[in-house]
Amino acid sequence: MTQNYFKELSKELKKGVSQKGHPFRYFTLATVGLDQVARLRTVVLRDISEELQLTFYTDSRSKKMIHLQENKKVGLLFYNSKNLMQIRIEGMAKVIHDEEIKEKYWKGVKGPSRKDYTTTTAPGTTLTNPDQLDYLDDEDHFCIVQITPFKIEYLKLKRPHHIRVRYSWEDDYWESEFLVP
Ligand SMILES: Cc1cc2nc3c(=O)[nH]c(=O)nc-3n(C[C@H](O)[C@H](O)[C@H](O)COP(=O)(O)O)c2cc1C
Repeated sequence: MTQNYFKELSKELKKGVSQKGHPFRYFTLATVGLDQVARLRTVVLRDISEELQLTFYTDSRSKKMIHLQENKKVGLLFYNSKNLMQIRIEGMAKVIHDEEIKEKYWKGVKGPSRKDYTTTTAPGTTLTNPDQLDYLDDEDHFCIVQITPFKIEYLKLKRPHHIRVRYSWEDDYWESEFLVP
C-alpha cells in the first residue's frame, strides 16, 4: 500500500523538473558544516533520475559548497500548497567533476543565467553597491551537485486522516512504514 504513495511522490518530484510553474521546481536545501548550524536556502531542481537522484546548480565558491566539503549529508524540503503535500528528503551530496557532464548542463544555461556563476568575487562577499557587480569574461564557477536520497518522508494533509510514510533505503530497496502524522 505504501508503494502508491512512493509512486505519487516520484511523479510529483519529476514534475518539478518537467512542468512549468510546479511548486517542486524549488526546494529548500539544508546543510550543516563544522559550525553546527543548519543553513537553509532555496535552490532550483534541475534534474531528477529514475532512481530519484536530484540535481541542482550552484557557484563553487558559495558557502553551501564549504559545508558540503565538511559534511555531505543534506536535508531537502519540498512543499506543494495546492495539495498540501510535503516531501522531506535526507541524502548524500556529490559534486560532479566530469567535464562532459558539466559541459552538457552548461550548454543548457542560457545568456543572462550564466551571470549567476561568473561574478568576479565570490557569492556572499560584501558589496558597497549592487551596481558594482563585475563578471568574468572567459571563466566560470559553475558547479553541479547531485543528491542521492537515503530517507524520504511523504506527508499529505487530508481528511479523514493525514497520511505520513517514511521510506528508508536498505542496500537495494526502499523499506517503508506508515507514521503517525
Ligand atoms: C527562487 C530562488 C532560486 C534559487 N536558486 C538557486 C540555485 O539553483 N542554486 C543556488 O546556488 N542558489 C540559488 N538561489 C540562491 C540561494 O537561495 C542562496 O541565497 C545562495 O545560493 C547562497 O547560499 P549559501 O551562501 O548558503 O551557499 C535561489 C534563490 C531563490 C530565491
